[in-house]
Amino acid sequence: MSDRAPNAAHPRVYLETYGCQMNVADSQTVSAVLRRAGYVTADGVEDADVVLLNTCAIREHAEEKVLHRLRELARLKNSRPEVKIGLLGCMAQHNRGAIMEKAAFLDVVAGPDSYRRLPEMIGSAGFDPSIDVRLDRAETYADITPDYGGGVRAYVTAMRGCDKFCAFCVVPYTRGRERSIPPADLMREVGELAARGVKEVVLLGQTVNAYRFGETDFGALLKMIATINGIERIRFTSPHPSDTTESLIEAMATESKVMPQLHLPIQSGSDRILAAMERGYTVTEYLDLVARVRSAIPGVAISTDIIVGFHGEEDSDFEATTAIMREVGYDSAFMFKYSVREHTRAFRLGDSVSEEDKGRRLIALIALQEEMSLARNRAMIGREFAVLVEGAARRGRGMVSGKTPQFKTAIFAGAEGVRAGDTVNVRVDSATGHSLMCSIA
Ligand code: 5AD
Ligand code: SF4
Repeated sequence: MSDRAPNAAHPRVYLETYGCQMNVADSQTVSAVLRRAGYVTADGVEDADVVLLNTCAIREHAEEKVLHRLRELARLKNSRPEVKIGLLGCMAQHNRGAIMEKAAFLDVVAGPDSYRRLPEMIGSAGFDPSIDVRLDRAETYADITPDYGGGVRAYVTAMRGCDKFCAFCVVPYTRGRERSIPPADLMREVGELAARGVKEVVLLGQTVNAYRFGETDFGALLKMIATINGIERIRFTSPHPSDTTESLIEAMATESKVMPQLHLPIQSGSDRILAAMERGYTVTEYLDLVARVRSAIPGVAISTDIIVGFHGEEDSDFEATTAIMREVGYDSAFMFKYSVREHTRAFRLGDSVSEEDKGRRLIALIALQEEMSLARNRAMIGREFAVLVEGAARRGRGMVSGKTPQFKTAIFAGAEGVRAGDTVNVRVDSATGHSLMCSIA
């Protein structure tokens, strides 16, 4: 138990982040908001006056991790009742009632559009918790510069929210409507990052290529960002196939700073399931898009997201998914078991695929993708790539790592003078499904 009294002038805050890259970026905004209000960062929960969890609600498993953590924090609250504990992000927004039942000790519950008010909310949390889960169509935090960490790469939020309402997904409910940050704010922000030595920006949004501000669409935004001196590489995540327009493909094809890497979540290879998921494209349309992308952007790496066991998925639908995976030949894939989410359109359909079948399908899919990632990476052996060095590799002394333009991890023996932020030409000597072992070319 800590015997340190809370420091009223500079309370110490410990912020834990779960879930996607958007949450990591949001936590940097939260950190900036709190720092402006006089908070300092605690090293851990032990020396914190305030503990905040920025949470994810995308699948039940994500929520379970946070609920487990909350049970641990209940013990902390018991021994140090003066510590304020807050739940932020998608779980706060999604199921506040159920959470308050499970964790009545929470002092603050704040949804993704309420972070500006956090200092006030923490300050006013007393006997009753301070709750704000109003979604705000106008909130973009455009004027708040997040506390970016160090490193050669920075993640910059370009748009927030989602208007797609895929039948399985809670995001439109937890993050609210789509809104884009004005290009001028993004230019200023990325310009400042470049001045601090950042070489690569990753533009973020739940459906990032739905970006639109006045006349500026996402392709135009990429071209604007590319004019910023010092920024050498531009990536973005996560795009939606339906928003992958000719304008975007053209920007990727013609602007050399935009890296040849595209995430195209397919979710299922069965038209019947895609329709039930309300994804807005057919398999044929998706494959046509992949063909256009590949012919316009030579050497592009394509990755995807797949859900197995959506309501109504039969073995034949699953086989259609594996067939498409083979046909496209993804460089990598994120694969998930379907998780029924309250409030979504598919919620009332229920869960027709047993846990065993979901597990079996997921294992088969992962094995297939491992095989294909390995094959695609092995096909790189002997080829040369420009690698932006990030720093020392975990394995082996003197080894450094970085990413190829396709965002594959390259590991090689660093030479005299090679440091983070340098771009080095390397040749691939060998490959696993996850990385390329290289030597300086
Ligand atoms: N169950 C399983 N996976 C989901 N995803 C989104 N919602 C669910 C759900 N209810 C996956 C999709 C999406 C990725 C971010 O998470 O594949 O692209
Ligand atoms: Fe969810 Fe679909 Fe929006 Fe992606 S596009 S965040 S899967 S609703």
